[in-house]
Amino acid sequence: MVEQQRLRLSVIGTGYLGATHAACMAELGFEVLALDVDPAKIAQLSKGTSPIFEPGLNDILKRGVDSGRLRFTTDFAEVGAFADVHFLCVGTPQQEGSNAADLTQVNGALDSLAPHLNRPCVIAGKSTVPVGTAAGLVERLHALAPVGADAELVWNPEFLREGFAVGDTISPNRIVVGTESAHAEAVMREVFASQIAEGIPFLVTDLPTAELVKVSANAFLATKISFINAMAEVCETTHADVHKLAEALSYDDRIGGKFLGPGLGFGGGCLPKDIRAFMARADELGVEPALSFLREVDAINQRRRARMVDLARELLGGSFEGRTVGVLGAAFKPNSDDIRDSPALDVAATIRAQGARVLVYDPEALDNARAAHPQLEYATSMFDAAHDADAVLLLTEWSEFREADPGALAKVVLHRNIVDGRNALDPEEWRAHGWTYRALGRP
Ligand code: UDX
Repeated sequence: MVEQQRLRLSVIGTGYLGATHAACMAELGFEVLALDVDPAKIAQLSKGTSPIFEPGLNDILKRGVDSGRLRFTTDFAEVGAFADVHFLCVGTPQQEGSNAADLTQVNGALDSLAPHLNRPCVIAGKSTVPVGTAAGLVERLHALAPVGADAELVWNPEFLREGFAVGDTISPNRIVVGTESAHAEAVMREVFASQIAEGIPFLVTDLPTAELVKVSANAFLATKISFINAMAEVCETTHADVHKLAEALSYDDRIGGKFLGPGLGFGGGCLPKDIRAFMARADELGVEPALSFLREVDAINQRRRARMVDLARELLGGSFEGRTVGVLGAAFKPNSDDIRDSPALDVAATIRAQGARVLVYDPEALDNARAAHPQLEYATSMFDAAHDADAVLLLTEWSEFREADPGALAKVVLHRNIVDGRNALDPEEWRAHGWTYRALGRP
């Protein structure tokens, strides 16, 4: 058998997924050549520094680049000549003005790579795509690649979570490969030999099943979050406590406590656009009713943001006009600088639009936030954001905010009003320091 290190890998697209995948595969001992169409990104990555904040990524990136195992390029011909396995890691954002996924980058990457495939290889799609996409790409690949059907397409969905991306890539909880080719399966088993040896489940499926695993996993996770947030809505009118409710539910191990955290709901570059693209695809396939519940999942999620704004306004006596609001958090979740569809920034921008002065602080996402929302003001620390505030809103649960000292913060604000959008604080402790504490779904 060919030694694992001998397989040469390429990674097309160096965003959150691709940069992490490339660095992790180099860390596992492979020679990796990663490509992006953005020369600035490639220049930065070539120096061994990450364009994104992701815990642990900088270390392995640097190690990979220093060892010579990890290299970067903008040249598809170089990639085509180099690798035995090409991982497609480009983005599939939501289309402008539609729920459907925009496949421009996936199609573009395949069209650019295929003419340079002169020897047998495997193309492993990792991007999240509408079910049925891979089958279409196979035809395109075989038509464009000089090597024809010896360029084999498999689908290998990625389940990494931002903030845990390195660990999730090196030790995923499962590996799914969609292929009906014994040869391509053998190649993929060789790529993931170390994970398979550790006992990580390796599932082989057909192409559509592999595509569906990813979107249905995300649909399930989004549904679980919106379920508990729907309960929060009920709690708000019945004066019940959703935090206690979630805890009580979690001890039933059929339900479990993960992704049952009530609060401001989900955002990010995956869950929101993936459930929308899934609904759009179901429409096209004529199975719209099967996924119509996802419309409600999305609506519940959006209503949390609106409720957060209402709660803050209520606390300020009914109007934001002339008031100062300190916002803690801009990233869509802690340990990330990703602000795509961030609930925190959505709420901050709405409150600004309703007349408040809004000061936002985030440990890592300020540059991204500033570029996307120049109308907001940005603080240099948590205390700076809370300075002279009429209300402080905790919208992303960074540990720095979870551990905030209510006594110290009380000294800098104008009024001790706190809205805990992530159920991350201890209400008793804050109330003991004279704060009016409010949270979504709690009395
Ligand atoms: C998600 C999936 O978890 C991952 O498997 C997939 O590959 C990509 O999409 P990610 O977007 O990194 O990963 O974030 P995740 O940790 O899933 O959180 C998504 C959102 O849900 C965040 O905004 C988070 O704040 C929110 N969330 C999560 C809740 O509101 N409540 C919870 O209990 C859990």
